[in-house]
This record gives sequence, structure tokens and C-alpha cells, in this order.
Amino acid sequence: MAKARRSQAWYGGTDRNAFIHRAWMRRGLPGHAFDGRPQIAVATTASDLAPCNSHLGEVAASVKAGVWEAGGVPLELPVPALGETQMRPTAMLFRNLAAMAAEEMFRANPVDGLVLLGGCDKTIPALLMAAVSVDLPALVVPGGPMLTGHLRGAPLGCGTDVWRLSEEVRAGTLSQAEFLSAESSMIRSRGHCNTMGTASTMAVMAEALGLTLPGTAAIPAPDSRLLERAHAAGGLAVEMVEQDRRPSVILSRGSFLNAIVAIAACGGSTNAVVHLLAIAGRLGAGLTLDDFEIGAGVPLLANLQPSGRYLMDDLYRAGGLHAVLREVADLLDPAARTVTGRPLAGYLADAQIYDETVIHRRGAPLQESAGIAVLRGNLAPGGAVIKPSAATAALLRHRGRAVVFDSIEDLRARLDDPGLDVEESSVLVLRGCGPKGYPGMPEVGNMPLPARLLAKGVRDMVRISDARMSGTAYGTVVLHVAPESAAGGPLGLVRTGDPIALDVAARRLDIDLPEAELAARAAAAAQTAGASASPRPDRGWQRLYVDHVLQADRGADLDFLVGSSGHEVRRDSH
Ligand code: FES
Repeated sequence: MAKARRSQAWYGGTDRNAFIHRAWMRRGLPGHAFDGRPQIAVATTASDLAPCNSHLGEVAASVKAGVWEAGGVPLELPVPALGETQMRPTAMLFRNLAAMAAEEMFRANPVDGLVLLGGCDKTIPALLMAAVSVDLPALVVPGGPMLTGHLRGAPLGCGTDVWRLSEEVRAGTLSQAEFLSAESSMIRSRGHCNTMGTASTMAVMAEALGLTLPGTAAIPAPDSRLLERAHAAGGLAVEMVEQDRRPSVILSRGSFLNAIVAIAACGGSTNAVVHLLAIAGRLGAGLTLDDFEIGAGVPLLANLQPSGRYLMDDLYRAGGLHAVLREVADLLDPAARTVTGRPLAGYLADAQIYDETVIHRRGAPLQESAGIAVLRGNLAPGGAVIKPSAATAALLRHRGRAVVFDSIEDLRARLDDPGLDVEESSVLVLRGCGPKGYPGMPEVGNMPLPARLLAKGVRDMVRISDARMSGTAYGTVVLHVAPESAAGGPLGLVRTGDPIALDVAARRLDIDLPEAELAARAAAAAQTAGASASPRPDRGWQRLYVDHVLQADRGADLDFLVGSSGHEVRRDSH
């Protein structure tokens, strides 16, 4: 006799309400489907408009077969899908909307456990934010990266190579026709971006948090082993319900620190900062921006674009995430658990490196220290981040004159103006691109370089903004400056020509002006506040978002979504 479950509050008993709940769901399902066995929502972000996730229907079918086999009942639940490349003004504007919608769907429906199918950048973090806030047993099946594409016989990494090729066109070293010929060869198969961009980073994050079936994070989307793991994940979801293995039981502060270490060793995306902080904020795990500093002492071991050379199917071939984690096992919290109930550390002993050019040994890392450095100073009192492994070493300590752009449109209008007073040592400053200012904190922080300097062979400059950067991008790019200019941050006080000092080793980002001058500018700005700020959206999601979004150092979640409401629903309309 199965014990009473959450779903039995809908289906259990013989009264009219239970009759209604069962009857509308029967449609071919046997009566015993509602006898108390676990009801597993297979939350899928499959969508033709989220092309990186468009194959998740097939993955869902394997999950469902696994759920049935284990004695549960699988129920496919489409939730908002965010296609990173397609959505305007930026997919990040909708991460919290997707998380809120998924959370409410999980809570409102008669389900006992969740299998979360995501892939493209924002989908896994949104699903995890929702799952943590509803606190039902949940595990992720990452949709997997696409296979490596090729151009003229050479591997082509989606994302990173787009940035590189487009800069080559602007520099005049690649023809437009050659550039366009890459369009159909880059995206070779189903799956998400195959660099260590944000999607791959989110898969690594989910596994290092302990929230995937161990060994799943790097399996390419077309690899049949992904479907095997999806089948097994369905079975595990049933077990998790039976064991009441909820996110609040699995996740600890150590789980989040493990994720930071794993992401650092892989050269993962700076976007992990806002997503991990948001997920941790839902749990109340006490994670802060400064905790990301533990990643700065982690060696870079995975030789993957954009920090390195290879792509995700190379990582899987070379041993996968566990082979990377085994090398840094001493930096991991040995007690942090996974969805299986066993610690993550317990899965690493058998991991092997099969190609040391792809996964480096701890003793011969690609870089001694990877991860994300957290900067502070009078230009970023709330913090800012930089990924030193993707930057030019010589620019990590730099002083230069600011060239300021007030918006991405301003940048596009003036960047290639022959009259723009910019030189190689200048510091490009972009503002108005934070969570409130844009709104949605777009991935424009890796701003293009002036064509005039590109033509002279310049390939990197110090760039500073309150924006994010694509996980596939690279350069000496300071991001997530907090508070953003639209929230009154000092980034809004910078003028073209001001001296900017970046010192990554000292973790400093400053505008080198007397305090009195900055105070005078702040006072003047306060007088004109409102005139220069971005207009408040009239209505709808953007209005709600701008009124409630937190700054990047708090994960850019909405203030009223921080924390958990659990899964209880006390009222029924029937
Ligand atoms: Fe979907 Fe990169 S655009 S993962």
C-alpha cells in the first residue's frame, strides 16, 4: 500500500472533488494511476523558438518511460522556454518570469516530484529557482551540447567563433562571404552551445550542485547515452519522492561552493554568478558575491573555448566533468550530496582522463588560477566581476582614460566614428545596461572594439559595464558593476577622459579622481535624477521587473521572489 503523497490531496478518497480530479485525468490512464503512486511532472522547455531545447520532447519521452518503469506516473508539463539568441530585448529579462511561472505551475498541480529539462542558457537556472522555491523532489536532465561544427576543415565553436569571425570581418581580414558560409556549418546538430558558454556552465553547475544524475553534464545532445540517462533520471525521480529527497535536503552551502569550484576548473561563464546567487537566494544558503573568490584559486583544467581550444564533445570524450572534478577533489566539500543520496565526491574515484590536451592534470593546468575575480572600489562599491582566464594577462593591471557610452545604441552610433577620441590604452565604459537600466541586463559587456583600432591589430581593450557578457565571449571585460548606473551607481558619474584604474590582483576597480569631485558630481546627478534615468516601463512584466529587480550582486532576482513558499496549497475551487 503506497503511503499518502502530496498528489493524494487531489486524487485520494471518494468524494466529488477526488472524482473530478481523477476523471479529468483518466483519458486512457488506468484507475491505479491515482492510487498513491508518485506523480512526476516532466517540466520541459522544449520549443521551436528555443532551438537549443527543441529536442527535449525526445528526452522527455525517455524520462517518462523511466518513471513508468519505476512505478510512477509521468506528466509532461511545458514551462516557459527562453531562446537565448532569439528573444528581445534580452532573454535575461524573462529568467525570473520563467522561474515564477514554473514555480506556480509546480505548486498548483497535483505532482509529487519534478524532472527538469533545460539547456539553453536561462532555462536550467529558471527551473532550479522554481524547484528550490517549491521544494519538491527534483532533478535536472541537461539537454546536452551540440556536436562540433566545422568550417574549411577546422572546428567551429558556436558562440565564441561568432565573436572572433565578426571581428575579423570588421578588421578586413575575413570576407563577408566566408563569414556567411559559417552560418549553416556552425550549428551542426541538436543541442545547446558547445563551448563552455552559459548553457554548458549551467549543466556543470547543476551537476556540481548535486542536482543531476551523476555523469550527465557533458553528454552531447545527439548521444544515445543522454536518452539512457534520461530514462534513469525518470526512475530516480520516483525514488526521490519515496525518500522525500527535496532540494532543501540535498543542497547545502557546500553544494554551492562545489559548483563554484567546478565552474572555475572548467572555465565557466560569468553568468554563473547571477544564476547561482539567485538559486542560493531561494534556498537561503547564505551565498554572497565574495564567495566566488574561492574559484579564483582553482586551476583551469578544461581546455575549452572561450578560455581554451576545445568543445564540449571533446570534454565528454576526454572523460567528462567527473574527470575534471577528480583533479580538484580536495577542494570540494566531501559531504555535499546529490540527488541519489550519495555525496558528489563518492562518484569521482573511477573517473579517468583520456585526453590530457582536453582535460589537464592538476600539476599541469591550463592556467594556475581560473574562476571569477570579484572587484570592488569607488567605481563598483557593490562589486563587479571579471573572468581573468578569458582576459589578456597584460591588461589585468591597467590605467587608461575612459571613453563613455550611455547606452548600447550610443555605443553602436559612435564606436566606429573616425572622430572618436579613443586609443589602444583607453577604457571603454558602457552604462545603462544593468538589470533596471536596459532593462534585463543584456549580454553586451564584451563590447566590440573600434574598427580603427581593430585595423591596427588591437584585439583586446579594458571594457567596463553594468551589463553581462555571453559565456562564449572573451576579453578583458569587467561586468556586473553594482550598483548599476540606473540605480544611482557611480558608473553614472564617469566622464570621457576620466582616469580609470583596474588592478585584478588587488581586486580593485576605481575612478582615480578626488573624493570631493565625485561627491560634487553625485550631488549634481541627484539634482537631475529622473531626467537622465531610463523611463519606467508603462505596464506589464517590464514594469514589475524594473520595480522589483535586485542588483547583480544579489543575483538579479525579484525582491519578492527571494526565498521559498514550499509546495502547500490549502484551497480548492471545486
Ligand atoms: Fe542556446 Fe547558446 S544560444 S545555448
